[in-house]
Amino acid sequence: MLIKEIELITLDTGTLAPHLTEDDLKNGMPGAMEALGSLIRGEGAGSDMLGWLALPCLPPRDIEEILDAGKRIQDQSDCLVVVGIGGSYLGARAGIEALKEHAPFPVLFAGNSLSPEYHADLLDYLEGKRFSICAISKSGTTTEPAIAFRLLRNRLTETCGREDCNARIVAITDPVKGALRQMAGTEGWKIFPISPDVGGRFSVLSPVGLLPFAAAGIPIDALVGGACSGLDRWSREEPGNEALRYALSRALLHGRGIEIEVLSTFHPELSWVCEWWKQLAGESEGKEGKGLYPASTVMTTDLHSLGQLLQEGSRKILETFLISARPNRDIDIPGDDGDLDGLNYIAGRSLSEVNRKAYEGTKAAHVAGGLPAMTLELEGIDPSSIGTLFIFFELAIAISGKLIGVNPFDQPGVEEYKTRMFKLLGKPGY
Ligand code: PA5
Repeated sequence: MLIKEIELITLDTGTLAPHLTEDDLKNGMPGAMEALGSLIRGEGAGSDMLGWLALPCLPPRDIEEILDAGKRIQDQSDCLVVVGIGGSYLGARAGIEALKEHAPFPVLFAGNSLSPEYHADLLDYLEGKRFSICAISKSGTTTEPAIAFRLLRNRLTETCGREDCNARIVAITDPVKGALRQMAGTEGWKIFPISPDVGGRFSVLSPVGLLPFAAAGIPIDALVGGACSGLDRWSREEPGNEALRYALSRALLHGRGIEIEVLSTFHPELSWVCEWWKQLAGESEGKEGKGLYPASTVMTTDLHSLGQLLQEGSRKILETFLISARPNRDIDIPGDDGDLDGLNYIAGRSLSEVNRKAYEGTKAAHVAGGLPAMTLELEGIDPSSIGTLFIFFELAIAISGKLIGVNPFDQPGVEEYKTRMFKLLGKPGY
């Protein structure tokens, strides 16, 4: 496993004042350390759902098996369709979108909505292509992916026959129960189990995320290595622990009336990491009338849309900037003899420098406008950093959930819509 000595993530909480001071963080730190300690010791509400803490230490044999399955998909197909929703979708999408330049093999997604247009377009696109399917569902019974899987499997059987179709399907599901597990056993599909003690939104470092990453071409050993370094650093009960400081800042500000946290990135490739984080935070904390509403913006695009609200609207918002210190590619701004657009003052300077100044200017403006703000800075956007970021947020959100007094590992509220929808559709038993 590649464990790099890296800076990991830096956290700047200096611009939370006057809403939250260094003294506030100091005073709250013993409670935050206790919350972290209880996680590490496997105590407290949801202690039966802590399997995700072991994922960054996946044995090399498991990594090899996932890499082999990814290679087989690449060899036998033109593209992979990953079928899943929620925690069985967002992590894979987040990693692949963030690491596009490390992910040359095409991966498409299905079953994350009930949109007829989306799925009809997808089937049109797949016409004449050799594709594989990775069906991901922990329960094996979720309606959206089950419908998409049925559509895709029918298409595959029609075009290449049952035997060839079965060789192109990988199921990632419960090791024992559920419809997907049962079908996989009957048809002989390759199966990767999701451990029952790993919840969907904490599963990105299991085969749920790693198999789609491997098929896409992402070096998963580097990604898991980053997560392993992060776990080592942020499971320490030390006041400088960035995950503790981030979790504590959120929980304390929530206690002081902040209702929304906006994760603002200046890197569009991280927009799906923001979507993944929204599920992680929203489903972990949003219960018993509590929880910060997790929102996100992609800058500078949203400065021309939501910037006004962030500058002068509701002051019940915490803004967390998510930025990268190093661009993967850069481009210089050309000079122009006429200079009619007035841009010659930045000619010869890089776009990454201008983007950085946009972040600095935005943060200064929003803080002057009265928003508490902090910054999470990644060393870069590469497999190792993204693995690090996944475990950082998982640890931090688990801790802040405990600090606000909820069980971060259950999601009782997500069943409500299903019951009503099933009744409306006439599902037997509803
Ligand atoms: O995080 C969760 O538990 C949910 O978002 C689930 O991942 C989502 O509902 C999909 O469930 P399943 O994997 O059982 O199909």
